[in-house]
Amino acid sequence: MKIDILTLFPEMFTGFLNESIIKRAIEKKAVEINIIDFREYSLLNHHQVDDTPYGGGSGMVLMCEPVVRCLDAIKTPDSLVILTCPQGKVYNEKKAHELKKYKHLIIICGHYEGYDERIREFVDLEISLGDFILTGGEIPAMAITDSIVRLLPGVIKEDSWEYDSFTNNLLDYPTFTKPADFRGLKVPEVLLSGDHKKIAEYRKNEQIKRTKERRPDLLEGENGKDN
Ligand SMILES: C[S@@+](CC[C@H](N)C(=O)[O-])C[C@H]1O[C@@H](n2cnc3c(N)ncnc32)[C@H](O)[C@@H]1O
Repeated sequence: MKIDILTLFPEMFTGFLNESIIKRAIEKKAVEINIIDFREYSLLNHHQVDDTPYGGGSGMVLMCEPVVRCLDAIKTPDSLVILTCPQGKVYNEKKAHELKKYKHLIIICGHYEGYDERIREFVDLEISLGDFILTGGEIPAMAITDSIVRLLPGVIKEDSWEYDSFTNNLLDYPTFTKPADFRGLKVPEVLLSGDHKKIAEYRKNEQIKRTKERRPDLLEGENGKDN
């Protein structure tokens, strides 16, 4: 898979691409990630990319031209173009599983007051990270990329995301590590029993109990992978 991220602030991605699982995924060639400064596609003096809003009001609006010229240069018939936008559909694990199937994703990061409305004619999908406003689309682009890359073959063991929260409409089961007794807080006996059938049953029951308590909406099939 190839992911191209269009941004005005490429340096924000330095740590993201050079640490931990994402770094290893790139090294293993499970994914190619390109950070593209779309300012370079501006035809205006000083590579201007934004201007004041028609009709007045505060803040600067990103112009269509540099973003669309950049898309013209990199888009192929295999590309899916994603706009990061608080007005888009709220992102979830189900969407990550859908997006991992594409060969080429292009993610556009807005900034300032957002985009000229006409940008919407040039994108396939608008994704929001949630009902809050960030200063730019870089953190959403990293979140979307991270959530997809960990699902790509060979990046992490499949059984480590199989029971992750939201996969199959359930939250994850509780996990424990050593010591078995921490300040009087004991690990459930069943996990020390070595009986794999009983452990699997316990975990499944805990997943259902936890989901009912904390996120009953998942059991109604609104946000999980398989609805
Ligand atoms: C300050 S925001 C613009 C918000 C816009 N004026 C509005 O109210 O809809 C600037 C950019 O940050 C990104 N952004 C901010 N919040 C976001 C969110 N919750 N999800 C996805 N992207 C977001 C988008 O790329 C957006 O264009």
